[in-house]
Amino acid sequence: MPEVLLIKDYAQQPAAWAAAFADFDLEVRDWDAVFGGGDGGDGGDGDGDGVDGDGRGDGDGDGGDGDGDGVDGDGDGDSRGGRGAGALAPAEIDYALVWQPAPGALARLPNLKLIFSLGAGIDHLAGDGVLPPGVPVLRMVDAQLTAGMTEYVVYHALRFHRAMPAYEAQQRRAEWRLLPQVAAAERRIGILGLGVLGGAAARALATLNFDVAGWSRGPKDLGIPSFAGAGELPALLARTDILVCLLPLTAATAGILCAANFARLPAGACVINAGRGGHLLEADLLDALERGHLAGAALDVFANEPLPPGNPLWSHPRVAITPHAASKTLPASSARHVIDNIRRFRAGRPVGPLADFARGY
Ligand code: NAP
Ligand code: GLV
Repeated sequence: MPEVLLIKDYAQQPAAWAAAFADFDLEVRDWDAVFGGGDGGDGGDGDGDGVDGDGRGDGDGDGGDGDGDGVDGDGDGDSRGGRGAGALAPAEIDYALVWQPAPGALARLPNLKLIFSLGAGIDHLAGDGVLPPGVPVLRMVDAQLTAGMTEYVVYHALRFHRAMPAYEAQQRRAEWRLLPQVAAAERRIGILGLGVLGGAAARALATLNFDVAGWSRGPKDLGIPSFAGAGELPALLARTDILVCLLPLTAATAGILCAANFARLPAGACVINAGRGGHLLEADLLDALERGHLAGAALDVFANEPLPPGNPLWSHPRVAITPHAASKTLPASSARHVIDNIRRFRAGRPVGPLADFARGY
């Protein structure tokens, strides 16, 4: 019997996952094959919305019982090997690739060898009781995920840099008026987080001649000014016209996009948040926009996802919103990271990169 990889994906794309693993000796099954329609967690009174289309829902439905009586597979190509498309017993699962598993679900898989985070962030796995003890957890590092984030950041940086929100507003008023144009070399971009994603975005922006600097826990040698640690954050902010947040959400970074730090930015600065909603204090942003201290914001992530319909950010004229869509994990490319690590694991070699829950990323 082939080993089994169980996938819980916010975008629910079983056929694409099956195709991505088609040439590898592994049976790939959807979460429902074990947990039925639920999260398989400890139960409780979740709102049951789960994921919807391409959005990343919170998926806290009532937990399945995890005893192998999940619903039948849906037969759309997510099953290989000899077991057919029906339910699997928890003991049959060897690996899990997951986004927001409910507390207790993974612990019901007694023979789990590796857990792969479907996202680059690991905060969705950090809650109490989400992870079973002793099973290594791998971060998602994938060239396509990185490329998608670079596209998002470059797009919004260029949009702010070239005053596109103001021109779009002028068009709505049929107003023909030339606005000042600034050379990229004179536009200062500050990136919070210089890891896989922040580092790639910084390199792409530097290639476009922007005056890029970045901030991380430790100093970096990326050929751009590097600021490190809490003590150097004010200096980074003081030289930033467009602030990009690509930090992981940790105790040290939660709420970092707040009134005190907005006040350190020059008047007229813009903010791009593609890290996590927990980085941003929404009321502080709205206040800074209303007072005119900040000129605009592009937000992809929110404390409450989906962003509730009545949230004032939706209708703010200087806020651009996307539904946690800056960069999705695509099966075709990310499967390579999973396959490489399963091969390593089978050969007794080290796997990685491993999530470090003590530092929070
Ligand atoms: P990463 O490689 O782990 O990089 C994290 C960076 O943040 C590192 O440079 C790290 O500093 C820095 N950092 C962490 N804590 C810090 C602190 N307290 N002070 C200063 N710097 C700190 O992570 P990644 O792969 O680039 O991903 C970053 C985040 O992007 C994820 O955690 C996730 O939240 C978000 N994300 C969002 C989307 C989306 O679609 N919106 C998609 C993917 C990822 P050191 O280098 O010194 O350790
Ligand atoms: C998405 O938010 C990710 O962490 O990859």
